[in-house]
Amino acid sequence: MIAYFDGRFMPKDDICIRPDDRGFLFSDSLYEVIRYYPGRLFRPEAHIRRLNHGARHLALSCKDFSFLIPVVRDLISQNHLESQDALVYIHVTRGCAPRNHPFPVPDPEPTLYVCVSPFDPSARERSRHTGIHAITVPDIRWSRCDMKTTGLTANVLANQQAAENGAAEAIFVRDGVLMEGTHSNFMAVFDNIVTTAPLSNYILGGITRETVLEICQKSDILTSESPIYENRIHLASELMITGTTTEVTPIVALNGRPVGNGKPGPTARALQAAYADLTS
Ligand code: PDD
Repeated sequence: MIAYFDGRFMPKDDICIRPDDRGFLFSDSLYEVIRYYPGRLFRPEAHIRRLNHGARHLALSCKDFSFLIPVVRDLISQNHLESQDALVYIHVTRGCAPRNHPFPVPDPEPTLYVCVSPFDPSARERSRHTGIHAITVPDIRWSRCDMKTTGLTANVLANQQAAENGAAEAIFVRDGVLMEGTHSNFMAVFDNIVTTAPLSNYILGGITRETVLEICQKSDILTSESPIYENRIHLASELMITGTTTEVTPIVALNGRPVGNGKPGPTARALQAAYADLTS
């Protein structure tokens, strides 16, 4: 596969990551995952906006990554993926410097890595059809989850815990409130109102979350961006996760207990159909 590294297109296997890269040493770095549907990149501008948001807060020397959109399109065509499903991965680090915690002076050039890979959506489609099991876990992450940094240790541990318990996703609970999944946002339906955590420093502003809220608005489905309390979760008729790779996936059991009648509900089905219209 051809990838993009520090301003050059080159075979992915020829890329060398330097050991003094601060992304490698400190996770002093940001990433994005963008979905490519045959013939169309899904909301690249929104992903770049979120990357720029992180870059501003991390005070990276580059704060506008919009030049990467043509790079991504170029990679899709150089790898002959135009008519396939694919995933785009973008990784930006502060750059290289001898290991020392403060920002290096002068600013190093950020390290930039972009790759594309074919994506087989069939397993995800099956999960969307049948629904998934999820568990809840304490949110041990830091307090700047709005930045998509590569420091994902807590997410990895939680998702592994889910896998070991026969579940596909773990939902982080902070102070009795269900925040989001390890790689997805979280929604619950209470009295026909699609409810999801309000944007804050405790969740990632998901592009899929935003898209689903827009779909609800257009489809006259009521929404509420408000806390989802653990002690009220049994009152939800439906639960779901949203994300670039998961799209809209119903949760049919939480911590081993069925959600509603244990099958994907009508709101999830309506949202899935509307989402499919946007991506086909
Ligand atoms: N993750 N919350 C977290 C913690 C995430 O990691 C993600 C996405 C989302 C959903 O965001 P979006 O709708 O923009 O994909 C929410 C990506 C897909 C990943 O880590 O692979």
